[in-house]
Amino acid sequence: MKILFASAEVNPFLKVGGLGDVAGSLPKYLAKIGEDVRIVMPKYEAIKSEQYSLKLVSKDIPVEIGDDKELINIYQTLLPGTKVIVYLIENKKYISQGDIYGINDEFKLIQRFLFFSKAILEIPFVLNYFPDIFHVNDWHTASLCLFLRLDKRYKEKPKVLFTIHNLAMQGKWNWQEVMNFLRLNGDEVFSLKEKTPGQFGLDFNIIQQGILLADFINTVSPNYALEILSKPYFSRGLQEYFLKRKQDFCGILNGLDYDVFNPQTDPFIPYHYSVKNIKNKKKNVFFLKQKLGLSENRKRPVFGIVSRLTFQKGIDLILKVIDKIVLLGDVVVLGKGERELENLLKKAEKKHSGKVKVFIEFNPKLAQEIYAGSNFFLIPSKFEPCGLSQMIAMRYGSCPIARAVGGLKDTIKPLRIRSLFLGLKTIQGTGIIFRGYTPNKFIKALNYGFNCFQNKHIWGKVVKKMMSQDFSWCKSAKEYQKLYKRIITR
Ligand code: GLC
Repeated sequence: MKILFASAEVNPFLKVGGLGDVAGSLPKYLAKIGEDVRIVMPKYEAIKSEQYSLKLVSKDIPVEIGDDKELINIYQTLLPGTKVIVYLIENKKYISQGDIYGINDEFKLIQRFLFFSKAILEIPFVLNYFPDIFHVNDWHTASLCLFLRLDKRYKEKPKVLFTIHNLAMQGKWNWQEVMNFLRLNGDEVFSLKEKTPGQFGLDFNIIQQGILLADFINTVSPNYALEILSKPYFSRGLQEYFLKRKQDFCGILNGLDYDVFNPQTDPFIPYHYSVKNIKNKKKNVFFLKQKLGLSENRKRPVFGIVSRLTFQKGIDLILKVIDKIVLLGDVVVLGKGERELENLLKKAEKKHSGKVKVFIEFNPKLAQEIYAGSNFFLIPSKFEPCGLSQMIAMRYGSCPIARAVGGLKDTIKPLRIRSLFLGLKTIQGTGIIFRGYTPNKFIKALNYGFNCFQNKHIWGKVVKKMMSQDFSWCKSAKEYQKLYKRIITR
């Protein structure tokens, strides 16, 4: 099958979060199982041609949007370490200025991705690559569904799979302003007339459009798909549209790129290790403690956090209990996000000097040192479509303490240690999960983890158990393959 995979972020070219990780790894595994998959992404200014050997393959192709006629250039390269072709679309006015989402004017951001989604439709004609299916991701590329419908050049329409990585960002703006920009009167496509209820008022909502117009919709874990269909908190105003498309909606768990996330080969960590050699895991913990000037007391575990610092991720809950956590062990935070959360974390670092370390930056090396050098990994998210960090943490033998939501629930089996006779114990599960979004529930989970950690014999087994789980893409890539086939042949 020919699949054109469209994303606003692709690792390693440019990424902000998990979307970029998925876009940079799923296509690679689809190619491994024989599919002709190519990627298309915006050519942001920050992506330098020399660094990624970009080749200009097509120049000055006109793209019309509303009254505007703009020219695009298309660059081509390979996804590093693979044979997967990547197209990057350049346009000064809409696409290329600044970084991914760093435009202050929100309507401009909407225009950027409307334009990008429309420009993708030029690729088949210009480069003679006609996909059987467009695989679009999140609101940034979902409006391709709409433009494809309106595009008269496509006699036989390719299918569209729309994957939702996060419903928190929907791409919405005043209906009339968007219609004016696109020079549509709203009657061209029936579903355009459907307005989202309540809080969205009369907004144009790109995710809603994608849900209504794509041939099939999926999200990134089975449990998040269930939550979306059953609880308004998770569907964020869009439940009725999901229910309408229930037959064409499912959840497929994300995988990890096992070539990248491998403690046996990871170039960023000082000591390589595997299930067979977890002694070196301890050396990484010691290394991190020394590097950051934390207590060298072995009984004090390291609690790691590598995350976008946004309200979704439960950083506020971490801040509420941080005075309690430092009684158990030390905290290391790495990430960037909302200014207010960044400042509060910095404040906590000052208050608990030597026990809390906060790095407000994007730092792939330190991230890996934290995965390898922490004993626990904190993910108390309010909602979590899939979450990748819990899977990375387990692979690196760091025990996730997470809320039972979305993909966290699908991937972490609750840790239970049961006493048998004669002091023997059995261990079940791979991490600690808690339900209620309250400091008390979180503290209980932290204490449970801390107590297990104190028993060296048991803890070694827990670490081995976590590290033996299989979160590779192999299984999920096959599920996507099956789904593409199903969509194309029906
Ligand atoms: C978003 C979600 C995260 C998911 C990722 C990749 O970042 O918040 O849960 O793992 O997308 O699908």
